Amino acid sequence: MKRIFIFLAAAAVSAPISAQTTVGSDHDLRGKIGQQIQDYGQVCAYCHTPHKATTKNVALWNRALTGLGPYTMYYPTTHAGQSATPQPASLACLSCHDGTVALDLIVNKPSGSGNSLGGKMTGSYVLSTDLSDDHPISVDYPNAPTDFNPSPVGPKLYSNKVECASCHNPHSSQYGSFLRMSNTGSALCLACHKK
Ligand code: HEC
Ligand code: HEC
Ligand code: HEC
Ligand code: HEC
Repeated sequence: MKRIFIFLAAAAVSAPISAQTTVGSDHDLRGKIGQQIQDYGQVCAYCHTPHKATTKNVALWNRALTGLGPYTMYYPTTHAGQSATPQPASLACLSCHDGTVALDLIVNKPSGSGNSLGGKMTGSYVLSTDLSDDHPISVDYPNAPTDFNPSPVGPKLYSNKVECASCHNPHSSQYGSFLRMSNTGSALCLACHKK
């Protein structure tokens, strides 16, 4: 038993480093001076904090998720299964990608850092607060699906809802556009939709 454990531990340590890391990706915001982002020296700090996180709903989140929006959702408010507002998992992304909040405006700053530089996201990566032209989010995955695969493999559901990170993995540029899986041949879409 002990031998097996040691073998597994050694295998984990010697596993090759893959492109599955935030470091060096478009989400490595350290020193993006052109965008007026303070260099906190810590790649995770723009989104996560080890202590005093702002919400229990997104992994140790370091950005304010209150006071955002209001957002226009994809479906009318009467649509069954769609939350009235984006849920925390998606608000996390929107706290940069709606273009209204300074990118380096984090709650717990690494010691020794100065005030926020105030630069907001501009350009084609801004979704704005009008989400009616984006794939529905904070919407239930159908329970008795006819048009959907019962248990999608690849995408990730959050309390059975589709959120930004259902399709995206903010930590990996392995598949481009921070996608959770390849969308070659629309594979990502077809993981959920039967079309
Ligand atoms: C640009 C923002 C951003 C950065 C930078 C970032 N993360 Fe995340 N992280 C998120 C978001 C959003 C979630 C929640 C969505 C999800 O499930 O992936 C998350 C979730 C997580 C989770 C829990 C879910 C999982 O995938 O296991 C861990 C652990 C994590 N991050 C670790 C890290 C570490 C370590 C770093 C730095 C090397 C880092 N993150 C950098 C945005 C970020
Ligand atoms: C701390 C701010 C911040 C958060 C939080 C954040 N992003 Fe980003 N994201 C950025 C910035 C800045 C860029 C553009 C980087 C550049 O221009 O080089 C970007 C780029 C992207 C891109 C384009 C990458 C490409 O190569 O095409 C995608 C897709 C993306 N983000 C998705 C997400 C999703 C989904 C989430 C939540 C799970 C998220 N982001 C959370 C700041 C953030
Ligand atoms: C149903 C899947 C899905 C969901 C949900 C989703 N995205 Fe995307 N997103 C994609 C795909 C696929 C691409 C790549 C498009 C391409 O390559 O042309 C993309 C591209 C992007 C880009 C790059 C700019 C662009 O227009 O190509 C950003 C930024 C982005 N998504 C952010 C978000 C944010 C923020 C959310 C939540 C509000 C979100 N996405 C929800 C599938 C999704
Ligand atoms: C994680 C699962 C998932 C993935 C991946 C996914 N979708 Fe969806 N999609 C849904 C759900 C759930 C709905 C909302 C269904 C409802 O509430 O009626 C939806 C809604 C839609 C709609 C709106 C239909 C309408 O009634 O207006 C379109 C179009 C769509 N998806 C296309 C796509 C495309 C294109 C892709 C790939 C880029 C994709 N979806 C990826 C789950 C997914």
